[in-house]
Amino acid sequence: MKIIAYGVRIDEVKYLDDWAKETGNTVEQHTDYLNENTVEWAKGFDGINVLQTTPYSAAMFEKLNEYGIKYIALRNVGTDNVDLDAAKKAGVRISNVPAYSPTAIAEFSLTMALHLLRNVGYVQNDLKNDDFAGASTHIGRELGQSVVGVIGTGRIGQAAVKMFNGFGAKVLAYDPYPAKNTDLDMTYVSLDELLSQADVIDLHVPGIPANDHIIDARAFDLMKPGVVILNTARGNLIDTNALLANLKSGKLAGAGIDTYEYETEDLLKFADHGNFNDPIWDELLAMPNVVLSPHIAYYTETAVHNMVYFSMANLVSFIEKGEAETEVKF
Ligand code: NAD
Ligand code: COI
Repeated sequence: MKIIAYGVRIDEVKYLDDWAKETGNTVEQHTDYLNENTVEWAKGFDGINVLQTTPYSAAMFEKLNEYGIKYIALRNVGTDNVDLDAAKKAGVRISNVPAYSPTAIAEFSLTMALHLLRNVGYVQNDLKNDDFAGASTHIGRELGQSVVGVIGTGRIGQAAVKMFNGFGAKVLAYDPYPAKNTDLDMTYVSLDELLSQADVIDLHVPGIPANDHIIDARAFDLMKPGVVILNTARGNLIDTNALLANLKSGKLAGAGIDTYEYETEDLLKFADHGNFNDPIWDELLAMPNVVLSPHIAYYTETAVHNMVYFSMANLVSFIEKGEAETEVKF
């Protein structure tokens, strides 16, 4: 089987090479993304494997149709950058990897929660300023004594609840479609109840337009003073101006932002991040009670391995049987 892989990052090369060796398939690897200009490289291949957050356009799909290529296996979850109507029109079928490692993202939320509750940013700041006395004055709070509000209890949200349970935290949850048959210790409440009772608020909902700014100025008004907010889901969920205002007023004790509202479209090029010429990013970055990261909550060896192996399994199944376990339904 001849497969072409686009958007290959340095950390993925080993897994793509291993997979090709183990399965006896050929994988031609490109760091470039799949678009109208690079699509012609795919001529003569059986299928395409891709990781990118830039758009898959209608013009690109038309060319795939011309070349007779029917299958694209995405290595990630999100399909928000795919013109699904154009794909359907061109007869191109697509699979994604909905669960490459939900625990990777959940663990990152926990990492940020502990960092913020124990004031690690303040301690480091003082030490950098040679203020050793100050560094021992930032008394912390314990996660196990906190009320954690988890918004969105799908794959990642449930993995996070399990971890919060392990720490002994009281967990409140909000999801219009509550999880059934779980052994998780959580109590579903309304969104407003969650916002007004939680010490830590953790977001795990998709960035669909309906969820745009679900954490807005009104939501911040409902929160308790001293609350910590975590977002490893999507940047559009939080109104960043309202976030900044509440950090500055001292109402919010801290924020962990892996997914920033104004992150660039090309978020997988890590080198481009942190240099957006964006004054709000710079302001957040300078705050000791903010943990900022460039959309890397997923980024673990396990997740990257699974993104490659699960997507390739889909592609092989598409090519051999005309079906894939996690085909994206139009
Ligand atoms: P999922 O589909 O399994 O779960 C999402 C849950 O959110 C569902 O239960 C849904 O009912 C619920 N939901 C939707 N809108 C809601 C709302 N307004 N209020 C409360 N609940 C709501 O998805 P998942 O695998 O848990 O992933 C969650 C999100 O995490 C993804 O959509 C993606 O944006 C993000 N993600 C981020 C990274 C990263 O590296 N930072 C990696 C993977 C996924
Ligand atoms: C996802 O899989 O949805 C992510 O947020 C991470 C990915 C873009 C690498």
